[in-house]
Amino acid sequence: MIDKGNAALNLPGFSDVSAVRFFSLGRFALAEGLRALSLAPGAYILVPAFICRDLLAAIHAVGAVPVFLEVDERLEPSASSALWPTCAAVLAVNYFGFPQNLEPFRAYCKRTRAILIEDNAHGFLSADTSGALLGSRGDLGLLSMRKTFFLPNGAALLVNRASMVEKLPDQLPFSDQALPVSFNLKRLLSRIQRYLRVPVLAWMQSLVRLIRYWRTGHAITPLAEENEFVLPKDPRPHPYVMKALASIDAAAETERRKNLYQKFQLQLANYPIQTVFPSLPENTVPYGFPFYASDADAAFVVKVARSSGLDCVRWPDLPKAVAPTAPAHYQSLWMINFLC
Ligand SMILES: Cc1ncc(COP(=O)(O)O)c(C=O)c1O
Repeated sequence: MIDKGNAALNLPGFSDVSAVRFFSLGRFALAEGLRALSLAPGAYILVPAFICRDLLAAIHAVGAVPVFLEVDERLEPSASSALWPTCAAVLAVNYFGFPQNLEPFRAYCKRTRAILIEDNAHGFLSADTSGALLGSRGDLGLLSMRKTFFLPNGAALLVNRASMVEKLPDQLPFSDQALPVSFNLKRLLSRIQRYLRVPVLAWMQSLVRLIRYWRTGHAITPLAEENEFVLPKDPRPHPYVMKALASIDAAAETERRKNLYQKFQLQLANYPIQTVFPSLPENTVPYGFPFYASDADAAFVVKVARSSGLDCVRWPDLPKAVAPTAPAHYQSLWMINFLC
């Protein structure tokens, strides 16, 4: 049964997915996917410890409990999958749109009968070297298209098992809210930036951060602890998302992102930073340019990114249970974000 929730993603490859549901944020997509699993209260979900803390709100929202899996500097699980604790589901993250090697995850799922959730929030349009679109390789898949295209919101749950489709509620109604003024302003600046090649959006971001720093002591507001436990209010996607997705030029965006990755790889080759991935694999559409650096060296890269109209930030805001004992590489990863 193919059930696209009346709104199919107009992209090749996703036609094999049994069902798609759209949301405002990836967190809501994950929560809905977990609900479709009819988990027992307190069920364990295996999650990489190197993760943005707000994602965990989806796990808490369904009464499940995250169990953390350490990852190495290549962002692959540090221990053999034979040693991973038994959980009801496991999250494999395609960090920054680079395909995670799913073999250990598949071996784990075979051994424990856990459900495989492919978190592809970072990699809309990206595919692995065999050409399989990321997000379509697990039992459930997550997309957060708003991280790839300039959108007010926009995420999706992909359900790849027909048996789970029955448990899925219908597509939520789309939001009836007007587009936020801040989004309209950023979209205007983004268009000016792209057409005139003057980094006006980046300048505005710098100004906003400077004012915020003066007022609060933080250029970027750190996530409050509440974000780790409570989902935001509105799960509905904005209708603008579907309109925008219907007219995207996937090939042009793919090329733009690959070119940016190669440009920064060259430009920063002799600078004391270390790229997270040794190369850009075929079919990878990068979310950005991830690298390890000290704060001082990253400050230089922030300036380089700004001059190209792009943002560069440290990622992620680690979960409360992970942050105090996080290894050095969890605390020194930065990314030039290609969204503009
Ligand atoms: C790896 C990963 N998965 C999922 C999410 C959640 O996506 P969203 O911010 O759309 O809720 C994030 C958010 O940063 C993320 O980094």
